[in-house]
Amino acid sequence: MKRVEIQRYGSVDGLALVEVPDPRPGRGELLVRVHAIGVNPKDVMVRKGRFKILTGRPPITLGHDVAGEVIAAGPGATLAVGDRVYGMINHFSGRAYAELAVVDDADFARMPPSLSFEEAAAIPLAAQTALQALRDLARVGAGSRVLIHGASGGVGTFALQIARELGAEITATSSEKNRELCLSLGAHRHVDYRAQDPATIEGPFGCIFDVFGNQSLAKLGHLLVPDGIYVNTIPNAAVFREVAATLFRKKRARLVVVRSKKADLELLASMVERGALRPILATTLPFEEFRKAHELIETRRTVGKIVLRVR
Ligand SMILES: NC(=O)c1ccc[n+]([C@@H]2O[C@H](COP(=O)([O-])OP(=O)(O)OC[C@H]3O[C@@H](n4cnc5c(N)ncnc54)[C@H](OP(=O)(O)O)[C@@H]3O)[C@@H](O)[C@H]2O)c1
Repeated sequence: MKRVEIQRYGSVDGLALVEVPDPRPGRGELLVRVHAIGVNPKDVMVRKGRFKILTGRPPITLGHDVAGEVIAAGPGATLAVGDRVYGMINHFSGRAYAELAVVDDADFARMPPSLSFEEAAAIPLAAQTALQALRDLARVGAGSRVLIHGASGGVGTFALQIARELGAEITATSSEKNRELCLSLGAHRHVDYRAQDPATIEGPFGCIFDVFGNQSLAKLGHLLVPDGIYVNTIPNAAVFREVAATLFRKKRARLVVVRSKKADLELLASMVERGALRPILATTLPFEEFRKAHELIETRRTVGKIVLRVR
């Protein structure tokens, strides 16, 4: 089978499509014929070597989001040969950029039947990030007032729909050109962050989900209610410091760290099937154009998700 390898950390020139032996599933694993791959900013960070302490020396594989068909199942797997599945590979650097992927059964579920493989591959990492930030960390519920900053990208477009499903009253920020998209996905109010500093938005909020990750509790904390939560997506020193400083405070900063879970994927699939959730696809490219997909994601202007079509 063919897979994409990082042969040198850095630019897209360090990526190569190589032929390798077909992998085989072990206990609790599935062999998936990959039909579509979701591309995420994390793929670019892995490619650049941002996490090389964890990802080790190249060559390594990359990619997390997969939609495809199970062609072999190891002992103990619950999904079966022939199932159309989707999920996110929890392995740190990932191994989704391939014609075949061995995945943990626990990280995958049946994909929403009404979706194409391309649409399904757009969901797992981004939508589970939004779900785990809003439902698990922030405990958003009916009537919660939520600010979603950076609402038009991969995670943001799911965060809007999930916050709407949880019953929140939503203020969204994005560029002006994406105002209508944000309103159509559930925002009640929209702020163009270029025209108005997010720190001057009218609060108070129970939750600020800083999807883009360029704000802080220090900057936006005055917009929160006394027991409000500020959630960032970027694992950097400044965020760790704010999290540590507010670990035992009511008004707190937290970092979301997404994990793929079968139950969450099943929940998201059920939301899709009853019309409460839809992936927004910015671009679908053939597998061979993985370098272009990275260049597009790096513009930080993607509206929704970029997907690679493998077959
Ligand atoms: N910790 C975790 O588990 C986890 C999981 C998933 C993602 N993440 C991180 O979360 C971040 C967002 O991921 P994503 O998939 O949503 O990225 P993305 O799809 O690449 O985000 C693109 C969006 O960013 C917006 N944007 C660009 N500049 C901005 C600015 N200065 N202020 C606010 N928004 C801006 C753009 O909106 P406009 O064009 O409308 O301006 C665009 O729609 C990434 O850094 C990613 O690595 C972390």
